[in-house]
Amino acid sequence: MKFSKDFLFGAASASYQVEGAWNEDGKGVSNWDVFSKIDGKTYQETNGDVAVDHYHRYKEDIALMAEMGLESYRFSISWTRIYPNGDGELNQKGLDFYNNVINECLKYNIIPFVTLYHWDLPQELEINGGWTNERTLKAFQQYADTCFKAFGDRVKHWITFNETVIFSRHGYIFGAHPPGILNDFKNYYQVLHNVFLTHAKVVLNFKDSGYQGDIGITHVFSPAFPADDKESSKKAAEHANMFDTFLYYDPILKGTYPEYVLNQLKEKGYAFELSQEDQEILLKAAPLNDFIGINYYQPMRVIANDSNTSREITRESSTGGAGAVSYDGVYQTVKVPDHSYTKWGWEISPEALLDGMHLLKNEYGNIPIYITENGLGDEDPIVEGEIKDAARIDYIEKHLKFVKKGISEGLNIKGYFAWSVIDLLSWLNGYKKQYGFIYVDHKDHLNRKKKDSFYWYQEVIATRGENL
Ligand code: NOJ
Repeated sequence: MKFSKDFLFGAASASYQVEGAWNEDGKGVSNWDVFSKIDGKTYQETNGDVAVDHYHRYKEDIALMAEMGLESYRFSISWTRIYPNGDGELNQKGLDFYNNVINECLKYNIIPFVTLYHWDLPQELEINGGWTNERTLKAFQQYADTCFKAFGDRVKHWITFNETVIFSRHGYIFGAHPPGILNDFKNYYQVLHNVFLTHAKVVLNFKDSGYQGDIGITHVFSPAFPADDKESSKKAAEHANMFDTFLYYDPILKGTYPEYVLNQLKEKGYAFELSQEDQEILLKAAPLNDFIGINYYQPMRVIANDSNTSREITRESSTGGAGAVSYDGVYQTVKVPDHSYTKWGWEISPEALLDGMHLLKNEYGNIPIYITENGLGDEDPIVEGEIKDAARIDYIEKHLKFVKKGISEGLNIKGYFAWSVIDLLSWLNGYKKQYGFIYVDHKDHLNRKKKDSFYWYQEVIATRGENL
């Protein structure tokens, strides 16, 4: 079986991770520009000042994407290029840059798939309370509308937010992302709600204003499964799915929050403010029928945390590998013998991607799904100057096979974006962890080089995955 011609083969990036040019052409300062320069916050003090210089090399990079046969490029817009202070003055040069990127994609028939928020918040908004402040919520709506107006004639696929849970949890519980706060559960849940509400308002504006195209949101997707047959593990998995899947998908796809979660938050004193008016807005914007984006890397295999030890919350405890107590202390993720894991302890399980998508279908109906990220973070072997990333090929091949299987089982999967198109700055692992099809030589002027996986993905796209 081949993938249909409507299925999109893509790859992705994010502004802060690739662009660099952090203070050029009128760009304002983002929270990551500041946070990454605080001692000890990032791996080997890396930051995105230059990143992989995509800002200056986008033409070369997009030409490589075209050579690979990419059908869609998912990238994000840096809010501070458009509105340097978040709101207030608009920066024409920022609009020019993204117009150029979009036009360059279209020149090669590459569909631009645009994320509005991939974590780089204007610092002016961050210092005034970030996503806890109404000003940020309003500013985002204005920024989104500006992007729809400026680019909507050519961009027909929009993602409002990337991985809401990660930037809020890392920002307010693990202290690993800005604003770097530890253990503030109350604000964590409030921020999540504020972001979902903002998403809903942006979607309603998009539809009511008659902009053409599809709009969705991208969530991290790590479905939980009991690690053994114990009743307590089953319960732990149900709890994990409530807090780590349904809490994010319900407000978007049903317009409500799971009762289970609301009750527990009330008991623990973390209940967020949910006015009648907000509730109506969420309901009005749901269900989001255009699409839902899922970023899938690994499932969770869980058991109950009987020991009653709570997780030691530190920046290091946030890197995501199996083998830790959950952030709320209720369950633990464990490594399962015989399953394979990446160097960062992330389980490799394409089966769980498929099972997880069925879980979504059972819960929400057959909504269109784009896999907006999936890929292998690795330290790629270099043999005589060639990048031999056979492990990445193997990882993506396995996952694409299960995507194919999912489609044959009736799942509504519209496209697949590998993370990432090019090696880029990892938020917590600097340049040590690589994901790309294209290698960037940090010792030699950031020169680009095609990896083995580049040619492999090129072949997959050209044959529409016939041989998978
Ligand atoms: C998800 C995020 O969207 C992306 O920015 C990050 O680099 C990858 N996961 C890998 O962890």
